Amino acid sequence: MKEISAIILAAGKGKRMKSALPKVAHPVLGRPAVWHVAAAARDAGIRDMVFVLGFGRDKVLPTVEDFRGRVAIQESQFGTGDAARCGLAQLPARIREVVVLCGDAPLLRPETIRALLSVRRRKGAVASVLTGVLDDPTGYGRIVRNPDGTVARIVEEKDADDSVRKIREVNSGTYAFDRAFLESGLPRLTDVNAQREYYLTDLVLEALALGRCVVPMVAGDPDEVRGINSRAELAGATGILRKRKLSALMDSGVTVVDPDRTHVETKVRVGQDSVIEPGVFLTGASRIGRGVLVQAGCIVQDSVVEDGAQLRPYTVISQARVRKNAVVGPFVHLRPLSDIGEDARIGNFVEVKKSRIGRGTKANHLIYIGDAVVGKNANVGAGSITCNYDGISKHTTVLGDGVFVGSDTMLIAPVSVGKGALIGAGTTVTRNVPAYALAMSRAELKIAEGWVARKKPGLLRKSGLAVPSPKKTKGGA
Ligand code: UD1
Ligand code: CA
Repeated sequence: MKEISAIILAAGKGKRMKSALPKVAHPVLGRPAVWHVAAAARDAGIRDMVFVLGFGRDKVLPTVEDFRGRVAIQESQFGTGDAARCGLAQLPARIREVVVLCGDAPLLRPETIRALLSVRRRKGAVASVLTGVLDDPTGYGRIVRNPDGTVARIVEEKDADDSVRKIREVNSGTYAFDRAFLESGLPRLTDVNAQREYYLTDLVLEALALGRCVVPMVAGDPDEVRGINSRAELAGATGILRKRKLSALMDSGVTVVDPDRTHVETKVRVGQDSVIEPGVFLTGASRIGRGVLVQAGCIVQDSVVEDGAQLRPYTVISQARVRKNAVVGPFVHLRPLSDIGEDARIGNFVEVKKSRIGRGTKANHLIYIGDAVVGKNANVGAGSITCNYDGISKHTTVLGDGVFVGSDTMLIAPVSVGKGALIGAGTTVTRNVPAYALAMSRAELKIAEGWVARKKPGLLRKSGLAVPSPKKTKGGA
């Protein structure tokens, strides 16, 4: 496909979106609308791409880079015909065929692009156009056909009379062109129409004037022709791509318990025999291994979860890694650069940030671990935290293999605890602890007998307890 190029029209603002972001840059299932269009072209085998940019172009450039495309700038948006002309000026000489795509139509499939190319060649037409038959064609250009089935005209909604508006076959804005025809036809377009724009669709008239034809190809799936013009259509397109993604995952051996309530973005990969429960969001470039259980309400963003791991309900992880067979959650927050070792157990209400947790280590209840390196088979007791921030900088905590941290331990970083050491419950660790040592800091426990009965009898009455006589509280239980 060396002689084919795609021109992707992406210069418009998209007024109906009511947004500062250009329409084509709005994410659809986690990737910009125009990214999906370019991916369809690439998957159809087209390597050479020109992106026509204008409004908010810097927001579209990352996609251009993803596909190593070239950029054509359309300073003012004079219409799709003018945009195509800008794109054409950037085509290498070797290109013989051009596919023109709308950056706002993310539901197009690669096989449809290939079919459109071959229809044009087979019919010897100067152009082929992808059409769709919609129940509600409002807003789209309508396809008026010749008796022989070729296209007689494409009429924009705003230029259409009542009889044309009744036509349900619409223009998708996706075309395959013979390059020479595009080159001769585009300069001839005029802007004599309701919107005072240069319509790419008027090339149909140029073809007829040359005694040539434009052939329509009806999309088998009318969803493919949908463009995004409003937020409602954006949500509709996202829903359709989401279903396609989940179907593909299920076909590859992933259990999706409730596809209507599961959100998996375009680039996410999930291995065989993994189970995804309802209310889960898997986003960005996340990779989920084989046999992973992702339970209800989990949010996984740009993270790696290895084979056999389990994410218990309401676990939120971002730019983190959970290694093989580790169990995380429920209600765990793994923040960026957290790395949870094989077979580790990070339990409920635990937050981990920028820390490595060794294999088989347990940190089960209400814990904060930040800027730490924790060895293998350690145990971090309930309510313990790394005090990693002194108000100015962050400091590191190192816990060796097999360290036992008693409950409610404060680790004042920078600090390290050698392997096999034991920290008594309630300790504030302010100095390094050598291997195999016991470290413990505790205020002396004071007990004043009968104090509550004497000083705060009201508290006892409030709890329904009789206030004992002073004699009875002496030494009693
Ligand atoms: C266009 C078609 C219409 C078709 C519809 C399908 C024309 C005249 N009309 O209408 O027949 O049914 O698409 O969705 O072609 N763009 C530019 N520069 C411009 C104008 C548009 O780059 O000057 C880009 C937009 O960013 C967008 C695409 O072209 O990605 C389509 O533009 P839009 O204004 O949405 O076209 P429609 O009015 O929907
Ligand atoms: Ca328009």
